[in-house]
Amino acid sequence: MKLADNKATLSFSNGSPNVELPVYHGSVGPDVIDIRKLYAQTGMFTYDPGFLSTAACQSAITYIDGDKGELQYRGYPIEQLATQCDFLETCHLLLYGELPNADAKKKFERTVTMHTMVNEQMQFFLRGFRRDAHPMAVLTGLVGALSAFYHDSTDITNPQHREIAAIRLIAKMPTLVAMAYKYSVGQPYMYPQNDLSYTGNFMRMMFATPCEDYKPNEVLVRALDRIFILHADHEQNASTSTVRLCGSSGTNPFAAIAAGVACLWGPAHGGANEAALNMLHDIQAQGGVEKVGEFIKQVKDKNSGVKLMGFGHRVYKNYDPRAKLMQETCKEVLGELGLHNDPLFKLAMALEKIALEDEYFVSRKLYPNVDFYSGIVQRAIGIPVSLFTAIFAAARTVGWIAQLNEMIGDPEYKIGRPRQLFTGSTRRDIKPLAKR
Ligand code: CMC
Repeated sequence: MKLADNKATLSFSNGSPNVELPVYHGSVGPDVIDIRKLYAQTGMFTYDPGFLSTAACQSAITYIDGDKGELQYRGYPIEQLATQCDFLETCHLLLYGELPNADAKKKFERTVTMHTMVNEQMQFFLRGFRRDAHPMAVLTGLVGALSAFYHDSTDITNPQHREIAAIRLIAKMPTLVAMAYKYSVGQPYMYPQNDLSYTGNFMRMMFATPCEDYKPNEVLVRALDRIFILHADHEQNASTSTVRLCGSSGTNPFAAIAAGVACLWGPAHGGANEAALNMLHDIQAQGGVEKVGEFIKQVKDKNSGVKLMGFGHRVYKNYDPRAKLMQETCKEVLGELGLHNDPLFKLAMALEKIALEDEYFVSRKLYPNVDFYSGIVQRAIGIPVSLFTAIFAAARTVGWIAQLNEMIGDPEYKIGRPRQLFTGSTRRDIKPLAKR
């Protein structure tokens, strides 16, 4: 970051002296006012619950222009990555800063592939869960448990440990997601088959059984690979910030990523894809496209508590570029499977059309986000709804680990410790039990 020519001056109406605050430029995007010395200079904190105006770190990984609806990983537009690269190339880009050349691509693929299997003991750990447990509950446990199995990559101050933990997490996450799925349906786990692509291998671990040969459908593999690319990173979102905050204490990478998985689960974040598909199912059950108007009315009624899931975003105040790509993929997948007339897709298109013309959504700049169509694609591929967020977690793992490693390498990194505006009781004394 570069110091800007201008400074910010903070003045107070009570006559306290002005305070000058440095301003920094990034390479693109809004400047930031450096308030690190504010408390020392004024005895005051800033107040920003939800981080609406706070840059919590500097980062060179992902850039979003929410007004224009643009997303770039390391400078490359998401549209180019989604159409010209595969997920592992994207992982290389996020982790190391550059797309691999042909040799580096082969080497990286080989390295990740060699780590796809998990310690055999993990299946006994998994066996402790109820079969009907939510896959995200299982995944949070499994990822946290990795630190108990891979002791040789838990020292975050050691760059080699960090590197191997990153590869292990990227490689093993699909295996864990597939194991969680197989466990829930009572089928045998499928071991990774390393002559398949990263995503082809995942589909085989999900859908094959030892009884029959399984050949992943290339159109579906490409669609899932695109889902992985689109979800790979998204700058300082809630789960990534959780990973950074958790990792800032010096905990091991597996523990930090487990915290990210837990945060992602919520319906306002990664859980929205599941919630969006459930919403479409509900509307369909009540009468489908004809009920869209009624549903939109409910969404606009603040007292109803109903939200249009898959719509709206903290940063995008324009069409989420990932949603456009997802809509394309949705058409391709439904076409490949002969589901052109899929009622949920039709319903989603009708909802989107009405919402985009409605004053409520227009004035609040609410547009479809990535989750609006991703559920329809995943369902068509055969992924059960309850597993959607786990797929998101597998894809986001590379972003989490890239951001965690970036933080640890940042000379300005400190343990994260927000402050507060205290509004509770002032000091008081305990009365004896009989007098309370
Ligand atoms: N349906 C109806 N109204 C909405 C919606 C929605 N989906 N999203 C926002 N609003 C309204 C909100 O009620 C508020 O209205 P008002 O100004 O009258 O009070 C206004 O729009 C601004 O919303 P906000 O809640 O202050 O915005 P936020 O930045 O705090 O929340 C959000 C962003 C994504 C949590 C929210 O839009 C939402 O809950 N969307 C549905 C869940 C969803 O699709 N989440 C996935 C996000 S993308 C994937 C990911 O990154 O995980």
